[in-house]
Amino acid sequence: MPHAIGAHHTSPVPTGQQRATAILVTGAGGEMGHGLLCALDARRKHDGGCGTDHGPLTVLIAVDIRELAPEIRAHCDVAYVGDICDHALLERLLAMYEISEIYHLAALLSTRGEFAPETAHHVNVGGTLNLLHLAAEQARSHGRTVKFFFPSSIAVYGLPTLDDKRRVGRVREDEWCEPHTMYGCNKLSGEHLGRYYDQHYRKLAKDRIERPVDFRSIRFPGIISAETLPSGGTSDYGPEMIHAAAASRPYRCFVRGDSRIPFMTMPEAIDATLALMSAPKECLTRSAYNIASFSPSAEDFRQFVQQAFPLASIEFESDPGRQSIVDSWPIDCDDSAARRDWGWVPRHTAESAFREYLLPRIAARYLHSSPI
Ligand code: SER
Repeated sequence: MPHAIGAHHTSPVPTGQQRATAILVTGAGGEMGHGLLCALDARRKHDGGCGTDHGPLTVLIAVDIRELAPEIRAHCDVAYVGDICDHALLERLLAMYEISEIYHLAALLSTRGEFAPETAHHVNVGGTLNLLHLAAEQARSHGRTVKFFFPSSIAVYGLPTLDDKRRVGRVREDEWCEPHTMYGCNKLSGEHLGRYYDQHYRKLAKDRIERPVDFRSIRFPGIISAETLPSGGTSDYGPEMIHAAAASRPYRCFVRGDSRIPFMTMPEAIDATLALMSAPKECLTRSAYNIASFSPSAEDFRQFVQQAFPLASIEFESDPGRQSIVDSWPIDCDDSAARRDWGWVPRHTAESAFREYLLPRIAARYLHSSPI
């Protein structure tokens, strides 16, 4: 792991003895970071400064293992190039800022994780533990609970067989949590660690502080963005098929046409994140919530794409390993707790996601710019 620490400031950050109040986003250069930084930036501009309870001095800090693209960097005040497993970087953040909220997005996804499971564990669990510890230390130093968002995943589920998957249909949060991938194991660990830091941290210590971390998590389905392509995931076939067709590239789908898992659009995922983070704590009955939007088969994807791009060349050639991962994920998720507790409502059906969001945005993107 590279351990470079570099900070790029896009606007002045207070110096001297006083620490600036800050919101921290890790994995800021990834697919979700892109959408979330835009949304957090828009929210603080709309709110006339910060979007938190702590006044207009709040700075938006991004951390990523790679340098951020200029269009993403424009949405934050400080961008660190560094590793979430690097304690020196986290110490530095602790010393420089009063962090009020953390959005911990950095992770190695499910396909990549199966090539290097120990590295995935190191980054996904070790990194999460580091960030939770940072949150708890922050709470100790400034005396306020730190809100922590953790994107979990449908990968925490593991249906033993395809017959079970078809028979079970929608899963509730407490069912079938026996993941088949290291990534799924890591996300489940992250959820448990978060709940521990929120409710039980240092149970026996004399100088214990009550609830230093306010941990909130969503188990996301596959996410499809019109702006970016995912990499290293197993739900990637959905977005890859659409982007390939728009870029006039043939696509060989690595799962069978009848494969079915839940998906949602990136704007829905970002809205859900902000909605859960702003919900009153007393309304929340769980620390990790399912949310659901639509569940097309890979063949449904092909048909939507083919209607919009009649010349698209899409073939199915199932890869046994990646297929087995998708076959272990549920067809759909029961999101009644999220609907009840914090008002989650999906914005799209599969049809409206394609017609209103994906096709127009993606077609315009490939018409006006070079393919990703
Ligand atoms: N999109 C993720 C993956 O495919 C699952 O959350 O790894």
